[in-house]
Amino acid sequence: MFVLLNENFVDRTECLIDIEDRANQFGDGVYEVIRVYDGEFFLLHDHLRRLTYSLEEAKIDYDIRHHKLAEQLQKLMDMNEFKEGGIYLQISRGASPRSHPFPADTKPTLIAYPIPVSRPTESQEQGINAILHEDIRWLRCDIKSLNLLGNVMAKQTALDAGAKEAIFYRDYDHITEGSSTNVFIVKDGVVKTHPANHFILNGITRLYIFYLAEQLQIPIVEEVYSIEELKHADEVFISSTTSEVISVTNIDDVQIGNGKPGPIAQKFLDAFFKHKDVEQLSNTN
Ligand code: PDD
Repeated sequence: MFVLLNENFVDRTECLIDIEDRANQFGDGVYEVIRVYDGEFFLLHDHLRRLTYSLEEAKIDYDIRHHKLAEQLQKLMDMNEFKEGGIYLQISRGASPRSHPFPADTKPTLIAYPIPVSRPTESQEQGINAILHEDIRWLRCDIKSLNLLGNVMAKQTALDAGAKEAIFYRDYDHITEGSSTNVFIVKDGVVKTHPANHFILNGITRLYIFYLAEQLQIPIVEEVYSIEELKHADEVFISSTTSEVISVTNIDDVQIGNGKPGPIAQKFLDAFFKHKDVEQLSNTN
């Protein structure tokens, strides 16, 4: 497998990263997971726009355009003859002797490589169980940071409980997002999801759902909602690059709606591939 390491394409076994790269000691970096369907990137430019946002907010000095990143990623796909799955990409602040302050004159480290992703068709057909979990993460969830310990711990708690996702709440009551997904509820035909602020990652799939809602004329609002609203929703569903759209049919043993994937989630899923050629979603939300 070829890996993009900064400007070079190297074999995985030759991808040498310094032990003092700040990604290792501090999780000091940002990342993206970009879906590839049938040999084509899905929403690449939206992912690159969010990557730019994460880099700017984290004050990591890496210019995507200067490095012609879109072209490099295309080359990475071509070299790997990659058709189906995802590209994982991370940019750290770079390697430097361990010390908390930003190092002077250190160049960021970029790695990108293909990862296997298959469509979650069984979960989409049957729905999944989720648990509620206190949101134990920091307050800059809008940055797609490498620091995922809170997410990882919550996901494992969900798996240990026989569920597939942990839905986070803050302040005893307000639902934010999933451990690796955005969360939506449907009540009386209206879709509701947490506003895009520092409590959540503004998912690219979330933005795509706003776009699809416009196409399908499904009302959708960004509003904070409570655990009670979540449990009494007609439908709950999650979204992400790897999940697309998946209905949540049980939360902590409370059945959602009739316990089956709901019609609105199904509409989004049906439309998902019809509108896949949309160029760029930026500023649709
Ligand atoms: N996770 N919220 C969190 C905390 C996430 O980690 C993700 C994505 C999302 C959805 O974002 P998007 O639609 O852009 O994938 C929301 C990725 C897929 C991951 O870490 O594997």
